[in-house]
Amino acid sequence: MEEPVAILGGTGKEGRGLAARWSRAGRRVVIGSRDPERAVAAAAAVAALSGGEVAGVDNAEACAAADTVVLATPFEGLDATVTTHAGALRGRLVVSAVIPLQVVDGGFGTIPVPEGSAAELVAARLPGSRVAAAFHNISYKLLMDLDHTLDEDIPVAADAEADREVVLELCRDLGARGVAAGPLSLAHYLEGFTAVLLTLNKLHRSQAGIRFTGLR
Ligand SMILES: NC(=O)c1ccc[n+]([C@@H]2O[C@H](COP(=O)([O-])OP(=O)(O)OC[C@H]3O[C@@H](n4cnc5c(N)ncnc54)[C@H](OP(=O)(O)O)[C@@H]3O)[C@@H](O)[C@H]2O)c1
Repeated sequence: MEEPVAILGGTGKEGRGLAARWSRAGRRVVIGSRDPERAVAAAAAVAALSGGEVAGVDNAEACAAADTVVLATPFEGLDATVTTHAGALRGRLVVSAVIPLQVVDGGFGTIPVPEGSAAELVAARLPGSRVAAAFHNISYKLLMDLDHTLDEDIPVAADAEADREVVLELCRDLGARGVAAGPLSLAHYLEGFTAVLLTLNKLHRSQAGIRFTGLR
């Protein structure tokens, strides 16, 4: 059995999509919410879709339930969420999928973050945790369609190779190729590139993804 994974904000669109894929792959998934009743309902819905093992608890319990905790809240709630749960997240690998997204000129851009990126804001608030950035470019619509084969890459940024490896395994369990993309300081570009993808999708009425060429 693979290591369990917890998702804060796991009741939302991206969290449910990740939970559906991971639980289908045999991971035990713990969905966290500010409201445990919402978490239980989301877990039941995801388990019905994936046939996997999914629990729903409040965010504090979710932090305690797995060594790897994914952040899938809106950017607006990120700082308060990680600050509130800093103690429970100590010693854990915290993976941010959060994009500081805003509408710009009819397309999409990112809100400037003084720390450099949402993921680096997390790292600044959680000195006792390891932090990675990933999953920004995978749409919940494609994640939730379990019959859809993901043919896109997921770039993964983290300072330690061992942490990148843990997240690459999670990418594999989504059914996608993870690509180690270097240190957390690159998270700014990973978050920003999703603004490009969303703008492309709007212009071309598409569901565009990223595929790196020439990798060995
Ligand atoms: N949607 C996508 O396809 C996609 C793809 C890649 C990355 N992302 C990123 O993933 C994150 C979640 O996106 P989403 O579309 O899943 O968002 P969402 O559905 O709007 O929200 C996700 C969950 O976050 C919690 N939440 C909402 N406001 C909060 C706040 N102020 N503080 C703490 N928790 C709050 C809610 O859970 P509870 O009320 O149950 O606590 C909600 O169900 C975003 O940062 C987004 O940029 C999204």
